[in-house]
Amino acid sequence: MNTPVSGFSKLSKSQKIDWLLSRHLNESETAREVITRYWNQDVPLQELHDGFSENTITNYYLPYGLAPNFLIDGELVTIPMAIEESSVVAAASKAAKFWLNRGGFKTEVLGTLKSGQVHLNFEGLNSEMEAFFAFAKASLLQSLESINASMKKRGGGIQDLRLVDKTKDLKGYYQLHATFETNDAMGANFINTSLEQLAMTLRLKASEFKGFSTDRPEVVMSILSNYVPECRVKVSVSCSLDEIGEVNGVTGREFAEKFVRAVNIAGIEPLRAVTHNKGIMNGIDAVVIATGNDFRAVEAGVHAYAARDGKYRSLTNARIEEHNFVFEAEFPLALGTVGGLTSLHPLSKLAMQILGQPSAEKLMRVTAVAGLAQNFAALHSLVTTGIQAGHMKMHLVNMLEQIGANDEEKAQLKKDFEDKTPSFSGLKESLAQLRIAADQS
Ligand code: HMG
Repeated sequence: MNTPVSGFSKLSKSQKIDWLLSRHLNESETAREVITRYWNQDVPLQELHDGFSENTITNYYLPYGLAPNFLIDGELVTIPMAIEESSVVAAASKAAKFWLNRGGFKTEVLGTLKSGQVHLNFEGLNSEMEAFFAFAKASLLQSLESINASMKKRGGGIQDLRLVDKTKDLKGYYQLHATFETNDAMGANFINTSLEQLAMTLRLKASEFKGFSTDRPEVVMSILSNYVPECRVKVSVSCSLDEIGEVNGVTGREFAEKFVRAVNIAGIEPLRAVTHNKGIMNGIDAVVIATGNDFRAVEAGVHAYAARDGKYRSLTNARIEEHNFVFEAEFPLALGTVGGLTSLHPLSKLAMQILGQPSAEKLMRVTAVAGLAQNFAALHSLVTTGIQAGHMKMHLVNMLEQIGANDEEKAQLKKDFEDKTPSFSGLKESLAQLRIAADQS
């Protein structure tokens, strides 16, 4: 058995690679070549990337694409998307084009507040804890003044501080629940620093408070919540059934009815809702990643919101209202346009430029649009042609690469499969036939 490595983090990058090759890759020079081929030749840029994470040995690229023609609240927007999955950017672009002449996307920011908690354990009387909070609240808030100063100047900072009694759910469990406005920053570091300060002040005030008959409250941990239902954006599209026009041989009304049915199925059936929402996250994550935001935080928060009434459901809703088709969603999205990776990664900075240096609110709107558009495109395919035709058409180029077709063969096979859903076996057979034909000529 291999022995564990000690002090790996202290090794240089090349020592880490040597260790990897000797320990796991049988000294493979091909593996070394793969690792180094992905290094950027621009040394300061490579060093910047190495610094984003730890124990880095190389870079892992994602395609960075553009989905143009989004009409959002009357403004034409091009959305940058970083994603490895084929057909997502095409689908977003197709949805943008569909809604361009049908009124575009309408958005509304419903709130921008985030929260964090100091989680406490206190086994004494509830009345003592309440009296202590009344005694300490002003000092707790005051202790945040210097941390909050610059956020406050921009209209943000702590907005509310409450004591929450959770002892019915877990013995001895209380929270200091703090609500924050973080302006254009996602605010994770600001919130966590504020919470740790609150925890420190709480300990100090608890030592001064004379009203505890038994133990003092104990701080378990202090951390922001990635569940942000009060930081939410609404997005919608609507048009008359006539404006939908004919879709793959069915009338606008028939298409809309089937579409609404599909959304309703995801509203009651978690097996479908998870896939439905995954399709939405194709769009949301791609924008979140392109703009250097935290997609794990967004994913966790969005899926929790999808289960807010105790059952996991579709994040989108659709209906026919008289003669109109309406399709909408609300997403909790804590995003930043300043600070963190947004201001460090050259491609995130580029994304901000493409989006016209947006505020966090504007980025929430754009990201929500990408989510709704993605769901529209996926359902459009699902209730008409099925998903595979369009998806595999986009994936064809990867499949041709995998079966080892050369440029000439790729061009011919793309033509041959223009109107067919490609499969590996079908492509391999066609490639073999092409090669036999080439040998015979
Ligand atoms: P199409 O009608 O064959 O495309 O759709 P087209 O060639 O007629 O082009 C129409 C427009 O689509 C283009 O306009 C582009 O906007 C866009 P133009 O630029 O020509 O003016 N478009 C492209 N954009 C960039 N690169 C391309 C490209 N091709 C078309 N190569 C399409 C083809 C794939 C767009 C369509 O079939 C579609 O939207 N499919 C849905 C694909 C999808 O949802 N993919 C996500 C991955 S599947 C998944 O993970 C989620 C899922 O499980 C979720 C769920 O179940 O709900 C499906």
